[in-house]
Order: sequence, then C-alpha cells, then structure tokens
Amino acid sequence: MKKFAVIGHPITHSKSPALHQAGFIELEIDATFEALDLSPEDLRDWMINEAHEYVGAAITVPYKETIIPYIDKLTDAAKLIGAVNTLYWENDVLHGTNTDCIGALRALQSEVPNPEGKSVLIMGAGGAARAIIFALKTAGCKIVVCNRTAEKAVQLAEEFEVEAAESLESVFPEKFDIIINTTSVGLKEWKSIVPEDFWMPQHTAFDIVYDPMETKFLSDAAEAGAQTVTGDLMLVYQALEQFNLWHQQPLEPEVMEKAFFE
Ligand code: ATR
Repeated sequence: MKKFAVIGHPITHSKSPALHQAGFIELEIDATFEALDLSPEDLRDWMINEAHEYVGAAITVPYKETIIPYIDKLTDAAKLIGAVNTLYWENDVLHGTNTDCIGALRALQSEVPNPEGKSVLIMGAGGAARAIIFALKTAGCKIVVCNRTAEKAVQLAEEFEVEAAESLESVFPEKFDIIINTTSVGLKEWKSIVPEDFWMPQHTAFDIVYDPMETKFLSDAAEAGAQTVTGDLMLVYQALEQFNLWHQQPLEPEVMEKAFFE
C-alpha cells in the first residue's frame, strides 16, 4: 500500500486527506493519506527517518519555507516562489515543488480561460501572493501588487519584475480585468480588502479565502455585475496537480470538488 501524508502544525483544518482519499476511491488506488501534526523538532526527525516511507507528502502552514533545507532538489517554481507544498521521490532523490501556483491559475481559468495579456491587481504581498504572482506572470498577465505595508509590495514587485501600487487610492479600477485577494481579510469576517464602489462589471474577482465561501469581496463584486472565482477552487486544483504528479493518472476535478464540500 502506498503511503501519503499532509504535514503541518496544527493540521486539523486540512482538507488534503479528504480530497486525495476521494481520488483513491474513484480510481481504485490502494493508498493511505494521513494528516501529521508535527512540531518543528518532529519535522526534522520525520524528514530524516520517515519521509522515505512515503510516496509523497503535502506541506502546509507553517512549514512551506522551513522544509526546504531537508529537500534534495527544488523545481524552478518552488525556488522562485521560495516555498514548497509538495514532496515526491524520483530515483531516491527527494524533490520539492509548489502546486499553489498552478492551482491559482487553473481556478482563475474557470472564469478567464485565457488570462494572457490581462491586467491583474493583486491585493497582499505574503506567501500566497508570491505563488499567484509567479503563476500569472508566467501566464503572461500584467500585474500590479498592492499591500497594506507598501514596502513589501515594492520589494515583491521588484523581485518578480511586476509593478507595485503605493496604495489602493492611487489605483484606477477601470484599468484592471482581474482583482485577487491574497490576504486573510474576509476570513471568518464580513470585510473586504477593497471598497464596495471599486467594482465594475468588466472585473473578475478571485478570493483565496474560502471560509466563508461567499466572502464580502466576492459578494460586492457580484453585486456590481463582475464575475467571481471562489477560494475552494484554488485548493482543489493545487491538490489535483499533486495527484497527477504522484499517481500519473488524470482525475476529474469534480471528484475533489465534491469531497471539499462533504
Ligand atoms: P500568506 O502566506 O497566507 O500569504 P502572510 O505571508 O502572513 O500570509 O501574508 C498576509 C498578507 O495579508 C500580507 O500582505 C498582509 O499585509 P501586511 O504585509 O501589511 O501585513 C495582508 N493582511 C493581513 N491582514 C490584513 C488586513 N487586516 N488589512 C490589510 N492587509 C492585511
């Protein structure tokens, strides 16, 4: 039996076991998927003594960066994003990659099938923003980053060779096709990172927050006639990418989407 796990601290919130187990059932794969809550010391021991027993692992908060020293080889995506969410073995060499970026792109493509050339406003400059900027830059989008702490947006924009906005007040909404919330604003609260009058019918709004599924950010956007992309899709599509990598068998997104809501 093949073994897989998701590693984090804490781990109770993780949807990864449910998403992957749904795939195992659908494709009749003989495998287990554990949720491992490891302290920082236990992480080191697990990587040295136990990682080799697993075919692959998903890495979540707070270890996406601190796991890197234990990995033999990083993909370009993981290197540039500076974070790993997926481990896999190839010829006894432990690889680390990042599927959050492709997950975000696929989620966005559910409403904007060809994002090349689109103007995107990214709200936030943390880890999630890095993965999304990497994905959308690679897809040929024109990106502006805006963050509460403006210096972080400037730094990030320089690193990825995109633009930064000093503040939201200096931004013209009509210049953008897509607006993405990568911050935690709206998580378990009825607040939006942009004002209600920001939205226009030409916009596509994408929120990475999925609790609640319909955030104020998305609700305001829909009210103004904009298209919306919910945060569950990013999670599902990044897991699908892991699934393809580990099993090399295509799985229909609907299988994981259904498991997400169960
Ligand atoms: P993650 O890895 O999930 O992206 P993070 O690295 O902690 O998390 O980044 C959180 C992002 O949300 C940051 O851009 C943060 O802004 P600051 O850099 O100014 O801290 C943003 N953020 C969090 N709470 C916010 C709030 N109440 N208003 C505006 N931005 C907020």
